[in-house]
Amino acid sequence: MSTFQAPKGTYDLIPPSSATYLAVREAIAAPLRNSGYGYIETPGFENVELFARGVGESTDIVTKEMYAFETKGGDKLALRPEGTASTLRAALEANLHKGGNLPVKLWYSGSYYRYERPQKGRYRHFSQVGAEAIGVEDPALDAELIILANQSYRSLGLSDFRILLNSLGDQECRPVYRAALQDFLRGLELDEETRRRIEINPLRVLDDKRESVQEQLIGAPMLRDYLCEACKTYHEQVRELLTAAGVAFEDDPKLVRGLDYYTRTTFEFVHDGLGSQSAVGGGGRYDGLSEMIGGPALPSVGWALGVDRTVLALEAEGITLDLPAATSVYAVPLGEEARRVLFGKVTELRLAGVATDFAYGGKGLKNAMKSANRSGARLALVAGERDLAEGLVQLKDLQSGEQTAVALDAVVDEVRRALA
Ligand code: HAM
Repeated sequence: MSTFQAPKGTYDLIPPSSATYLAVREAIAAPLRNSGYGYIETPGFENVELFARGVGESTDIVTKEMYAFETKGGDKLALRPEGTASTLRAALEANLHKGGNLPVKLWYSGSYYRYERPQKGRYRHFSQVGAEAIGVEDPALDAELIILANQSYRSLGLSDFRILLNSLGDQECRPVYRAALQDFLRGLELDEETRRRIEINPLRVLDDKRESVQEQLIGAPMLRDYLCEACKTYHEQVRELLTAAGVAFEDDPKLVRGLDYYTRTTFEFVHDGLGSQSAVGGGGRYDGLSEMIGGPALPSVGWALGVDRTVLALEAEGITLDLPAATSVYAVPLGEEARRVLFGKVTELRLAGVATDFAYGGKGLKNAMKSANRSGARLALVAGERDLAEGLVQLKDLQSGEQTAVALDAVVDEVRRALA
């Protein structure tokens, strides 16, 4: 029988490199935990309608990339392609916004699914760590999120990234701009599909990567020139707060995100070592989303950073995270009696918080020492019948090769001292 393989567009996280993924998730989460964000976990699938209405009927995510299916019970569900709609749905359902304590600040970490054409940095199953601040309109909140994402990347040692910033306006000014843009676009030489896009989502046309389209877009009306006073002031404040925090950004009047819910502040973190899939994270304000999914008006802002692409960015910059070895002590028993005694010591060490592993399967000394070295442990604990008869075990420093006999009941203390 042939063996199975991971489905197209997916890959497995396996040791030792999986440790880097965990560390990246942790590095992104740490500044959020430190800034009042509470952890939220929602199901891997939702009612398909939530994404259709939330992310937007005209987006690629909803029309082409969603893993939508009908259950045997007739429910129409979809694997989540992103985390914002689910998080807001959950917050509304739990009435978190009614606690009189806005904004509701939440962070999450998990798997997301998009049926995309796979390539490096673009997968059908990928991981995000995200943050959402729900229910408050305050430029400081937009700035906070951008500052925290920046802090996460810096803490990982990344430096070859840029922050692109834009404002998409609000329900006052965007419709006026949209109409002006549509007028302009209708006069261009475009294919059928792009023409259709003009009517549904004209801003996305600005994002078209094709040279033939970009050439014609020179002179297109820019949203920047249509922003209402309130949006302009708001955006200026976000910019000032970022500057005051020493966070460099680039104004990108063409930044249009791939999800429909954005209003005002939008931003993307792009890494210059990643080729075409350069967006390592993105987000923005979504003041109308709550109402779009049946909730009250709750102006909100958030972002999601891609874990997979952040790991690729580390590779691109040649950064190896300084991760502690998974195992500190490796126990090697020689003989049956030693197995029993050392296994007890392993449990004791673990309870004392020392990362310890054991040579299972009755390996001989040579093999067991090989495993000890491979485990990355600093110390080996070796015991044979003769040692035990004297109430001793051998504590071997695997770096220096130095070996000392230690009394059985002093093992935990001696190991602690040696590791300190
Ligand atoms: P997004 O820009 O669609 O935004 O995704 C955020 C990040 O997830 C991207 O910058 C990228 O790093 C990663 N990502 C997306 N698709 C893939 C893929 N197919 N393979 C690998 N990585 C991928 C959102 O998802 C919004 N929910 C962000 C947000 C939160 N806006 C407001 N709050």
